[in-house]
Order: sequence, then structure tokens, then C-alpha cells
Amino acid sequence: MLVAPSLLAANFLRLEEEIKSVVEAGCDLLHVDVMDGHFVPNLTIGPCVLMEIPRLFNIPLDIHLMVENADTFIDLYAPLRPHFISVHVESERHLCRIIQKIRSYNISPAVALNPHTDPQTLKYILNDIDMVLVMSVNPGFGGQSFIESSIEKIVDLKELIIMKNANCLIEVDGGVNNHNIAMLKNVGVDIVVGGSYIFGHRDRKEAITSLKI
Ligand code: DX5
Ligand code: ZN
Repeated sequence: MLVAPSLLAANFLRLEEEIKSVVEAGCDLLHVDVMDGHFVPNLTIGPCVLMEIPRLFNIPLDIHLMVENADTFIDLYAPLRPHFISVHVESERHLCRIIQKIRSYNISPAVALNPHTDPQTLKYILNDIDMVLVMSVNPGFGGQSFIESSIEKIVDLKELIIMKNANCLIEVDGGVNNHNIAMLKNVGVDIVVGGSYIFGHRDRKEAITSLKI
């Protein structure tokens, strides 16, 4: 299991220290939540602050766009050279074009699904993307409880990926902790995002290690 700590749960006034703690603890990616106050009722940090991360750390970035009009945001975040950019299927009228745009920057495109969204909606696009991000809480805030029906959805998504013979990873985001990690592993999840569980733990290494099963 690959582990991507979510910066949303970090202390924003001590970002450098916070990032250092999870990088040194052996995380695989750094999950960055971008919010616009429209698609979700919250805001986070923008590109001016995030631009410093690749200068200081050698860790792949996993950018999760929770925005309307992802088109503009892709141009803003591409200079950070992230590994993944995820866009929400619910916010994009022209998903296919957005995916092509992310790919044109040599960045791996991913699509995020809100808890109510059927994975079948990705049937004709699964072969064009590198990852599906399954939201296991309602997007916008950290520290919420894991929505149990996400497991059934991940099982359906996995079947679809196999059926389409797609080379597509599954990432789960929201309410991930040491209690549900085994279940997520069992249904074939490749990457988990951990916000409050990791940053709320005094020993970051212990927290990250407990998810790397
Ligand atoms: C929620 C974000 C998540 C969030 C996860 O909108 O997409 O990445 O930070 O936080 P936890 O792990 O606390 O649910
Ligand atoms: Zn996220």
C-alpha cells in the first residue's frame, strides 16, 4: 500500500516542518487538496505557497482539485510538476478534454468520484486515466468518518478496471485509519490518503507504517 499524507491536516503555519516529518517517516506521495469555495464549501492553500514544496523536497505530489473549472487550475499547478492531478467527474462537462490537457503536461491524469457517484460513469474513460480517486467522505473537510458503502463501490470499480483491462490505480481519500486499512487492502486499493490520522499522530512514522500493509 502506498501512503499519501494529506497536507490539509497539517499545521499551515509550520508547513516545512510538517512536510519534513512525513517525508522522513517514509510517505510515498504528498496529497495536496485544492479547494475553490464553489465546488466545495472551503478553501486551502494556493500555488504561491505550494511552489516552494518541490524546491525543498523530493517527493511526488498528488494534487486533488476540488474546483469548478479545473481547466484554469491545471495551468496554475502544472509548474509544480506533480505526479498526479485529479479532477472530479461531477465538476467537468468535458472530462475527456481535461484529461488530455493534464496528459499534455506529462502529468498522470486521475479522476475523483464523490461518495454518491457510480464508478460506471468512468467506463469509457478508464483506459485514458492512470488513477481513480474514490472519496470515502464528502469532499471539503478533513477529520470526517469513513463512509462504509465506499467498500462496495471500490469492489465494483475494481471489477470494471479488470473488465476494461485498464492500467489504472485506485486511491482512497477520507477517514482512512489503522482500523479500515486492512479492508481497503483486501478490496485492491493501491494508494491511501491519510489526513487527520497521520498528522494527528504524535509519531508520524508509526502512523504511516501502520498504513503500509
Ligand atoms: C477532503 C480531502 C481529504 C482530506 C482527508 O476533502 O480530499 O484529502 O484531507 O482527511 P482525513 O484523512 O482526515 O479524512
Ligand atoms: Zn483529497
